[in-house]
Formats: sequence, structure tokens, C-alpha cells
Amino acid sequence: MHTPVTLKFPYTIENLLNSLEVKSTSMLIINEKDEVTFSNSVFLSASGYVDIDELNNIKIRNIIHFQEPLMNLAQTLQNNKKLSIYTKNRTTIETTYSVISLQTHDDQHQGYLVMLYDLHNSNLIQHFSATFMKDVNLGVLLINKEFQLIDISDMACTIFGMKKEEVIDKSLDEIFKPVPREYQLVQRTVLEGLVTKNHAVSWINDSQRFELLMDSNTLKNSNGDTVGAYIILKDVSNLRSLEEQVQRSDRLAMIGQIAAGTAHEIRNPLTSIKGFLQVIKKSLKENEMNQEFEFTNIMLTEIDRINGLVSEFLLLSKPRDFVFEQVDLSKVMQEIKPIIHNEAILHDVEVQYHSASNLPFILANTELIKQVCLNICKNGIEAMVDGGTLSITEKIDEANKQVSIEIHDTGPGIPSFLVDKIFDPFFTTKQDGTGLGLSVCQRIIHDIGGSIRVSSKGFGTTFIISMPLPGR
Ligand SMILES: Nc1ncnc2c1ncn2[C@@H]1O[C@H](COP(=O)(O)OP(=O)(O)OP(=O)(O)O)[C@@H](O)[C@H]1O
Ligand SMILES: [Mg+2]
Repeated sequence: MHTPVTLKFPYTIENLLNSLEVKSTSMLIINEKDEVTFSNSVFLSASGYVDIDELNNIKIRNIIHFQEPLMNLAQTLQNNKKLSIYTKNRTTIETTYSVISLQTHDDQHQGYLVMLYDLHNSNLIQHFSATFMKDVNLGVLLINKEFQLIDISDMACTIFGMKKEEVIDKSLDEIFKPVPREYQLVQRTVLEGLVTKNHAVSWINDSQRFELLMDSNTLKNSNGDTVGAYIILKDVSNLRSLEEQVQRSDRLAMIGQIAAGTAHEIRNPLTSIKGFLQVIKKSLKENEMNQEFEFTNIMLTEIDRINGLVSEFLLLSKPRDFVFEQVDLSKVMQEIKPIIHNEAILHDVEVQYHSASNLPFILANTELIKQVCLNICKNGIEAMVDGGTLSITEKIDEANKQVSIEIHDTGPGIPSFLVDKIFDPFFTTKQDGTGLGLSVCQRIIHDIGGSIRVSSKGFGTTFIISMPLPGR
């Protein structure tokens, strides 16, 4: 026969709970007035309260949302039901729980012991989500089912050019009101279960263009109902510009191949057409057929244009064939000054030179460097339709062992969504432009180991041609 054993503690239940070193279960004792009279350290650290004193005056319903009176819950003795608790900073954590009624020996009701399971893990998840929102490389948006923005990460604020405090809790319709509906990045369909994965999108805010990969999905509660949605944006602008550079070189190589194959075939017949045309022109003059004589002039100019185009094609195809020589940049600039000047007068543009003394020699080809500078100056002048100032500045960068020529215009600037395109062969916004100017320039400068950069912020454009000094 076994005699039942009763353990007699000289302690209160609070002391007992404290001395049990429970690591994963949060325990609270709640008195008859619904006040918290005890909390173990697990609950305190998970909920963010410093000590029991902070909890003492708070009614339990401000911390935990029980679906039913505690008395019912204690009677049913159900385990693993779910509820939400509010942490000190008013975020919610979902957890499972059970409630035990506490009674004295003489069956007097003393309150309830509430046990919350795995709260510390939920808290970890909270820390994770907070860190996630701060991650510099991820744009995150959390939306509730009313299509309001509940949270937004710092990176997403940068992408959209917004301040967090100005957009939080607002409807996305309102936040993106200025953007036409079809171009809005976040559509209502995200709440209807439309899942996107690595969807490539571009976004331009006032100052910057972003190439993004977007993931989105709905957020569901434990019953499977949609409670909101999330959108994650990854900034892949760097990757995309690399990809575009590769594509551009591929295209250039292809154009080069076609050009090499056809340029001569075009030039030869052109030479004979030009020759015969000159003969015809002469006899037209002799016979005083003035109108026809004028036509031949136009035809000859057009033939020269085709020849010029073919020459540019050939440059794209065989840029490596040019002869490297010591180039005196100051001399190059002196030689092209009159040409730039003439062009500038036609467009009512003032030209300013800021020359550097003792500009060192570089290794390149004089004619090609002239072509580059002329092309870029011509673009600048052409951009200033209502006149303006073109400044040409020579600079020596000893630290990076390079010289640079900066060509700045006061034109309208280049819209950020076009900046990536201007070096593409055949990209032009001009009625009679070929769109080969900048791609030829880039090819030439690239082949001498230099670079061309462009900066255009709203108003005016600066092209910086950097060329390496010998021995770099
Ligand atoms: N300084 C500038 N300001 C504004 N837009 C510019 C400037 N420079 C270039 N661009 C833009 O870049 C495009 C491409 O320039 P690119 O020199 O390659 O060709 P193009 O000038 O149009 O034609 P081409 O040089 O053959 O006459 C131009 O059409 C223009 O839209
Ligand atoms: Mg041009």
C-alpha cells in the first residue's frame, strides 16, 4: 500500500515558481482583480518589462487578450490554445498557453497561474524582424488587409524617397497617389494572393534610379485568413548596370563585325558614284543648268555624310588598330578651340576654358582624342538650345595618375532614366543624330585605358573624360 506523499513548502507559490529554473515557459499569477501579482523572468525578458513593479498596476487585459473569462479557461484545462500578448512597446507576439486555477487547502480561490509557452522564441523572431527592417540592403513593406502601410524599412524609404513618419499607417493608394495606377509598384492584387518572386522592376525617385527585384506574398493568420501582405525589394542596380555594360559591349562587337564586313563594300561604289557625279556636275555648270547643278551639290553632301557614317562604323569595328603616340593634350585643345568656337557662336553659347599648366603627355592617338573632345563639346552645345555656357576644364589627378577633361554645359540635363542609354550605339534624341557619337567616344577612351563618366543632376550636364598617364 502506498501512502500519498504531500510536499510541504515553507514558501509561497511565487517563491516556488522563482526557484524552479524554467527557461522556456513564461509564468504569470493573476489575482481576483485581474492584476498581475507575479511574473517570472522569462515573461519579463520576452515582453520587455523591466520588473514586476512595472506590471503591478496593469490590468491583465492590457497585456494579454483572453478570448474568455479566465475561470472558463481554467475549467476546460485546455492546453496549446493560441493568444496574442502585447509587449511593452506595443508589438504583438502569438503564443500558446494554459491556465490553472490556484486554490488554498480549504478550496478558497486565490487567482490564476497562466503559463505561456515558447514566448522567448517568439521574441527572437521579433528581434529578427526588427533587424530585418533595418537591413540596409532590403526594402520591406508590411501592409494590412485595408491596404495601409504598417511598417516600412529604412531602405524602402530611401528607394521611394519618403520619410517613415510621413507614410506610416497611411493607405498605399494615398502614398503613391501621384503615380499612375498601372505604374504603382504595389498593387492591391498583392492582398488577393498574387505572389511575385524576383520580379524585375525599375523605380525612379526624384534623384535616383533603382533596379529592383521584388518578392511579395500575403500574410495569413493561424486560421488561414489573409491579414496583410509583405513586399521585399532587393536593390540590384549594380548588377543590372554590369549586365547592361556587357550587353552594350556585345552589341558593339556585333555592329563592329557587320561594319567591318560591309563598310568597304559601301565605300567602293560610293567612290565611283561621287566621281561620276562630279563629272556630271561640271557639265551641268557648263550647260548652265543651275537647278540640276544645285541638286548635285546636295547629292555630294549626302554622299559625304554616308562616308562619315561608314568611317564611324569602321572605328567601332577596328578601334585597336590605331597608332599610339605621345599626345599633347594642351595642343589638342588649342587645335579644336576654333571649331568649338564656331559651333558655339551658331548656338549663342559662351565657351570658357580653364586650362591646366604643364599638362603631361598621354599615350593615345591625337586625331581620335580630338574626335572625342569635339563630339562631347558638340553634344553640350547642341543641348543648350536657348544658349548657355560650355566650360572646358583640364585637370591633373596626380594621386590616381590620370588627367581629365571636364566638359560642362548649362543645358537641360539628362533625365535619370536615359543616363544609362546615352552610350548605346544608335541611341539619339535628335532628329538628325546618328546616336554613334558617344559610343565611338567611349570605345576610343576605353581602348586607351580611360573612362568617360557623366553626371547630370536635374540641370546641366558634366562629362568627365579621364585618361591614364603613361606608366600607370
Ligand atoms: N550634354 C548633353 N546634354 C543632354 N543630353 C545629351 C548630352 N550629351 C548627350 N546627350 C544625349 O545623348 C544622346 C546620344 O548622344 P550621341 O552623341 O551618342 O548621339 P547624338 O548626339 O544624338 O548623335 P550624333 O552624335 O551622331 O550627332 C543624345 O541624342 C542626347 O539625347
Ligand atoms: Mg553627339
